[in-house]
Amino acid sequence: MKQILMIDVSPRGAASGSRVAADRLAARLAAIHPAARLVRRDLAATPLPHLDAATLDVIAARDPANPAPPTDLARLSDELTDELLASDCLVIATPMWNFGIPSMLKAWIDLVVRPGRTFQYGDAGVLGLAQGKRAILLPASGGVFSEGPWRPFDFVEPYLRHVLGFIGISDVETIRIEGMNIPGLAEQAIPNALSAIDNLAG
Ligand SMILES: Cc1cc2nc3c(=O)[nH]c(=O)nc-3n(C[C@H](O)[C@H](O)[C@H](O)COP(=O)(O)O)c2cc1C
Repeated sequence: MKQILMIDVSPRGAASGSRVAADRLAARLAAIHPAARLVRRDLAATPLPHLDAATLDVIAARDPANPAPPTDLARLSDELTDELLASDCLVIATPMWNFGIPSMLKAWIDLVVRPGRTFQYGDAGVLGLAQGKRAILLPASGGVFSEGPWRPFDFVEPYLRHVLGFIGISDVETIRIEGMNIPGLAEQAIPNALSAIDNLAG
């Protein structure tokens, strides 16, 4: 394994369950793959802009013979996409906000899910171009979504699995930090996740 890309999303610093889990996972992956380079993108510290019309013209590359003038955001999108494609393992550590992913993470997804770079349409339908990678999801939530009555309302894990599958990443594991806001469960939410990380297979 040459490169691990870790996406951090929570703005809550040391209070963040997903960040505590991400730090532990970074250490665990470094122990398993000592030669791998770890790249961390902190989307709370350095938020990404939303797509604009000029950047969409560049990214869509409608007429390759007549490319649209590059924008700073298109260059950033190239950089983020190259970084993802150069990574063998992707870690996404994210809070659940209002049952879905925070917009900071959505901005990253919108910049890396790109026709011709990470997916393409062909005769057989969609082909993911980011194949051969492992992904590990670390979603943190106030409630419990792995089982019970709230399970249908988790739009974090199913969405991330779907969009990663769309670009060809189907080897996806999830370690939840859940019940963060439920008395009686909150105390074990982080320890349970850390123990799952410590037992993660290489
Ligand atoms: C704006 C906001 C929205 C939230 N929405 C939900 C939610 O829909 N469901 C839930 O279970 N918890 C929700 N929470 C609680 C967070 O998921 C919980 O605090 C989690 O620990 C956040 O991840 P973090 O600890 O890595 O910051 C919300 C928290 C915030 C600040």
